[in-house]
Amino acid sequence: MIRDVLHSFTFKGKTSSVLISQSIPDLERLSAGYALSQSLVVCDTNTKKIAASIPGINHARLCVIRSGEDAKNWQSVEQILRAAAEAGIGRDGLFIGIGGGVVTDLTAFAAAIYMRGIAVRLVSTTVLGMVDASVGGKTGFDFLGIKNLVGAFHPADEIFMPLSVLETLPASEWKSGFAEILKTGILADPAIIDILQQYPINFDDPDFLSYTSKQEWLSDIIHRCVAAKGKIVESDPEETGTERTLLNLGHTYGHALEAVAGLGTVSHGEAVAWGIGRACALGELLGITPKERTMQIVNLLEKLGYCTTSRYPLSFWDPEKIIQAMYSDKKKQQGKLRFIIPAAEGAVIKTIDKSDIDLVLKTLG
Ligand SMILES: NC(=O)c1ccc[n+]([C@@H]2O[C@H](COP(=O)([O-])OP(=O)(O)OC[C@H]3O[C@@H](n4cnc5c(N)ncnc54)[C@H](O)[C@@H]3O)[C@@H](O)[C@H]2O)c1
Repeated sequence: MIRDVLHSFTFKGKTSSVLISQSIPDLERLSAGYALSQSLVVCDTNTKKIAASIPGINHARLCVIRSGEDAKNWQSVEQILRAAAEAGIGRDGLFIGIGGGVVTDLTAFAAAIYMRGIAVRLVSTTVLGMVDASVGGKTGFDFLGIKNLVGAFHPADEIFMPLSVLETLPASEWKSGFAEILKTGILADPAIIDILQQYPINFDDPDFLSYTSKQEWLSDIIHRCVAAKGKIVESDPEETGTERTLLNLGHTYGHALEAVAGLGTVSHGEAVAWGIGRACALGELLGITPKERTMQIVNLLEKLGYCTTSRYPLSFWDPEKIIQAMYSDKKKQQGKLRFIIPAAEGAVIKTIDKSDIDLVLKTLG
C-alpha cells in the first residue's frame, strides 16, 4: 500500500506543493480554487488517455499536443496559447499540464508568458518527470536544435505524482527516468544508491513495470528525489549560485550527445546516464573522482543497462562534433565548458579552458 507523501517548498516567496499518491485526483481537486471555465488541460497524444480517465474531465477544455522531444518547440507553445485565447482564459485562469517533462515544461512556459503569467499545475506522468522535470520551476522549449534554449522560471503551485499512471509507461521511459534518480543519489542522497543496489531492476521484464509502480521502494525513491531537488532549488531558485548547477551532472556530455544524435534520437535519461559515466572518466583524469567512486557508479550504470563506453553507439561517431555541441549548449560559462564531476562524496563544478580540451576528447574515445 503506497502512502500519500506531501512535500512543500518555497521558491522566491511562492509555495509549491508536491503530492505523491497511488491514484490520480479528480478534476475538481486538480483545479481547486479556479473556475473550470477558466482552466485549460494540456496533454500529449499519449497522455490523452490518462487525462480522459480523470473523473470530471468532460467539463474541461483540452489541448492535445504532439508527443515527444521533437514537439518541444514554439509551435506547441503557440498551440497552447491559441487554445487558451480561444477558450477565453483570463488572468485568473489555470493551465494544468498532464504528461512527462515535455508537456510540463511546455505548459508551464506557456503559463509563464500568457497574459504575462498565469497559474500552472502539473500532473507528472513519467518517472523522469516525477523525480526531476516537474519540480523546481524551470520551463521552456528547444530552439535551433539546442535543448531548452528558450525558457523562464515559473513554478507550479501544485504538482501531482500519481504512481498508478506509470503502469502504461513504456520500458524505455522507465529506463530514461532512472538516470535522473541515479544522478540525485550521487549528488544528494546515498540512500538512493543503496536502494538502486538492493532491488532487482530489469526494464525488459514486463512484470517489473506494473509491479514496481505499486512498490514502496519506488515511492520512497521518488519522495527522496523530490525532497533533494526541492531543497536544492529552495537554496538556489534561479541557478545564480552553485547548488542548482550541480543538478547538471551528466548534462554537459548528455545534452551534446542528444544534439549530435538529433534531438529525440537518444532519450534524455540515456544521454544523461552516459554523461555521468563520462564525467567520472573526466574526473579521474582531473584527479577529482576516486577510482572506487567511478566503480560504484559504473556498476550501477551497467546494472541499469546504460551505455558506459566512451563512444556512444551511433551509426557515426565524431568526438569533435560532441565538443562543438558542448560549446553551443547554454550550460557553458564565459565561453568555458562547465562539468559536474563526481567526487568522493557528492560532486563538484569544474570549468575547462580550451587549452585543456584534450582531456575531454580523451573521454570520448
Ligand atoms: N524543467 C526541468 O527542470 C527539467 C528537468 C529534467 C528534464 N526536463 C525535460 O524533460 C523532458 C523529458 O521528459 P520525459 O522523459 O518525461 O519525456 P516525455 O515528456 O517526452 O515523455 C516520454 C514519452 O512517454 C509518453 N508518456 C508520458 N507519460 C506516459 C504514461 N504514463 N504512459 C504512457 N506513455 C506516457 C509521452 O507521451 C512521451 O512519448 C526533456 O525535454 C527535458 O529537457 C526538464
